[in-house]
Amino acid sequence: MIILGVEATAHTFGVGIVTSEGKVLSNVKDSYSSPDKGMIPDEIAKHHKDVAEEILSKALKEAGLTWKNVDLIAYSAGPGLDPALWEGYHKAKGWAEKQGKKLVPVNHCCAHLSIGKIWNKLEDPIYLYVSGVNTQLIFSEAGKYHVMGETLDIGLGNMLDKFGRVLGLGFPAGAKMEEMANFGNYVELPYVVKGMDVSFSGILTRVQQLYERGQTSKEDLCFSIQETCFAMLAEVIERAMAHTGKKELLLVGGVGANKRLCEMLDIMCQERGAKFFKVPLDLAGDQGAMIAWEGFLRKDEEKEMTVNPHWRVDEV
Ligand code: ATP
Ligand code: FE2
Repeated sequence: MIILGVEATAHTFGVGIVTSEGKVLSNVKDSYSSPDKGMIPDEIAKHHKDVAEEILSKALKEAGLTWKNVDLIAYSAGPGLDPALWEGYHKAKGWAEKQGKKLVPVNHCCAHLSIGKIWNKLEDPIYLYVSGVNTQLIFSEAGKYHVMGETLDIGLGNMLDKFGRVLGLGFPAGAKMEEMANFGNYVELPYVVKGMDVSFSGILTRVQQLYERGQTSKEDLCFSIQETCFAMLAEVIERAMAHTGKKELLLVGGVGANKRLCEMLDIMCQERGAKFFKVPLDLAGDQGAMIAWEGFLRKDEEKEMTVNPHWRVDEV
């Protein structure tokens, strides 16, 4: 079986094609970017509308296929930016009707988890999902995802990006902050773990204050944010693993590109006889292949829906 997936939850429009064995045949995308203005929802939707047909043709061509070979179309129905989601839905629905294919709505967050799981050939991992918007600790039981812990305010990526803007690093800032952290020393910051949840807004306020006072270097602040926030995550995940007895940890989401975060999680896993896994860069960010694979997994669930900008992973 061949599945085509359409991703359009945020600034990326992507089309990916996978087989029912989880092999990625093509994964083409194009992202809206505007270094100075940030994310303007209507402009993002216009971008997606403009590039959609070209991305689709490239994806089919790269896979060496035509519409005739495609059995199913999946699209990301949420969560995400409303105008972007509608654009993706209309494109996917239009293609499905024209080509006479079944259309399957999928949850974007579930897709991040399932592509990481198949790529690493995992049985039953616990997931740490750390992107711009999301910071969640997730496990699966009886076919449902459960959120065991999460951020009580902003996602870690958004927090890094907000402070990055203060430092004049541009958007997104996570990778640049990681480089600067290599030259920093530790200064104490608030460490905010509440039960299985974490909170980053107090840390953001504190680093902004320290930066404005001018006595702490950018490098020290970047290093200390990483050490503090990553240690908070490692602490709650370790407890979650002890509690659930899971032996595999899978890190997904854009912040997962951070080497120091991976190192800390890897050490934590080794110390408790568990294994740490991540996702290769081309499958880590937003793209269509993960939507296609999630669509294959959900193909027999009959869901009557269009889009849902606030669709949580534990509501699927
Ligand atoms: P989602 O819709 O899944 O929540 P998203 O668009 O919010 O996705 P991703 O694309 O998964 O987010 O991740 C983007 C985030 O990852 C940005 O906040 C960026 O700063 C952060 N990031 C990228 N590389 C690094 C890095 N090396 N270290 C830390 N953060 C990073
Ligand atoms: Fe995403």
